[in-house]
Amino acid sequence: MPTSNKKQNIKVVVTGGAGFIGSHLVDALIEKDYETHVIDNLSGGKKEDINPKAVFHKADIRELDALPSIIKGAKFVFHLAALPRVQYSIKHPAETHGVNVTGTLNILIAAKEGGVKRVIYSASSSAYGDQKTLPLREDMTPMPKSPYGLQKYIGELYARIWSEVHGLPTVSLRYFNVYGPRMNPDGAYALAIGKFLKQRKGGKPLTIWGDGTQTRDFTHVRDVVRANLLAAESTKVGKGEVINTGAGRNFSVNELAEFIGGPVVHEPPRLEPHDTLADNSLARKLLGWKSEVKLEDGIKELKKEFGIS
Ligand SMILES: NC(=O)c1ccc[n+]([C@@H]2O[C@H](COP(=O)([O-])OP(=O)(O)OC[C@H]3O[C@@H](n4cnc5c(N)ncnc54)[C@H](O)[C@@H]3O)[C@@H](O)[C@H]2O)c1
Repeated sequence: MPTSNKKQNIKVVVTGGAGFIGSHLVDALIEKDYETHVIDNLSGGKKEDINPKAVFHKADIRELDALPSIIKGAKFVFHLAALPRVQYSIKHPAETHGVNVTGTLNILIAAKEGGVKRVIYSASSSAYGDQKTLPLREDMTPMPKSPYGLQKYIGELYARIWSEVHGLPTVSLRYFNVYGPRMNPDGAYALAIGKFLKQRKGGKPLTIWGDGTQTRDFTHVRDVVRANLLAAESTKVGKGEVINTGAGRNFSVNELAEFIGGPVVHEPPRLEPHDTLADNSLARKLLGWKSEVKLEDGIKELKKEFGIS
């Protein structure tokens, strides 16, 4: 039986709290004195990244029976657990569906049963796929290009339906390429920053898929954590809204490689959208959120952490 380290008596649950973004969110919640519980099966995350003041429950979100007793009585559930890998989802559609869709459904069922006041769902800009115009706005028709993008989109729809049909307050945050400390440089996620830093540190050329003109709206993990806290507390959301969480500036992969420095090599392009750029006006309006960390500064910080001058 895990022991509780509660200070404020307000219980919150973070699924995927051992992962990259989840572990930062757990740190921030503990900083705010929430009694913070983590659900994670450690398939991707690391136990050592879980704040020791959190209550850790090793559980799999695909197993509904394990969830209600952990979630019961929580004020907020931040649902981040996922298999967030585009290429992996193409090879393993059933496994990723089980975690990303059935797992999300299970969390919503347990949250409703457990009297949770709000579920904050980590959605993904991959729901957009390729659109004809930029920036990407929440009212565009999603056109995901991979099982992962589709699965994350289905999660948003389930969250909205749980609000409308079952009265469970939910909100979905569509993150755009999140980066920062603890990101996985080996992850097959379509995010070049971690991989580039590792290659640069190892004295290897930076591998660019395609011609490098593809652009991404890179968003720092601290900004994403802040968006989650605002989404939990805002009085303007809770009905299944979908809100872009992106810095609102995009950079090409070639520009990113220049920031990191060193020689580059090109490999064949991958199946991925050519550009992403968030219109974040809804986040400003509903959450009072805008990104604060500039890519140049975020990269500088990471280079220092990686010991790269
Ligand atoms: N990193 C990004 O750029 C990005 C962009 C858009 C959306 N997202 C979303 O944000 C969330 C967090 O992403 P991340 O980058 O921190 O990923 P991550 O892989 O670092 O974290 C995911 C966590 O979920 C856990 N997990 C996986 N399957 C599980 C299961 N069956 N039961 C319980 N736990 C399980 C893993 O162990 C891991 O700790 C995901 O929902 C992802 O789809 C991330």
